[in-house]
Amino acid sequence: MNGLHHSKHESIHVQNKFVTRKLLRDTFSLHKKSPTQTKTTMLTEPTHQTIQTLVAAKKHLPGALLPILHDIQDALGYIPAQALGDIAQALNLSRAEVHGVVSFYHFFRHEPAAAQVVQICRAEACQSMGSEALWAHACSRQQAQGFTLEPVYCLGLCSSSPAMVVNEKLHARMDADKFDRLVADARSAA
Ligand code: FES
Repeated sequence: MNGLHHSKHESIHVQNKFVTRKLLRDTFSLHKKSPTQTKTTMLTEPTHQTIQTLVAAKKHLPGALLPILHDIQDALGYIPAQALGDIAQALNLSRAEVHGVVSFYHFFRHEPAAAQVVQICRAEACQSMGSEALWAHACSRQQAQGFTLEPVYCLGLCSSSPAMVVNEKLHARMDADKFDRLVADARSAA
């Protein structure tokens, strides 16, 4: 590598690191999610290879961390704990920093989702229309019915709240009965 290429590479690398560290500072000072325990399961070699390919494809971009995390979740459905070390090494971050970002964003999953994914909006407009009671109802059904339950924060249906998503389909004006019906329909359609 000649001097020009080397300094260009260094400059992108420093910029990448700066953007990522700024993101970490900004996000953690705004809002902290409670820490989540990350499960460690052994990855197959093809899965590990997929992660390494996705990391290598974007690691030189400024602010590469979030795009890489999105790519991994798109490909695998979650962010395996073992991927954190690969990402950290490629971006010259600590594993704890990468884990902090994955834990901060509710969007990122720590383990594969079930066949049915239910997302309930817990943002203000939906809260004012009963989404916390809906969330409690969903929690009471989750173990028996085996769906993945995730919080989301505004689905753009505030005027028809509370809102939720079942397997990527939006539903508005939710209540407990409608919840049970929709989840049963989704299960029988699977
Ligand atoms: S706050 Fe729930 S859809 Fe906007």
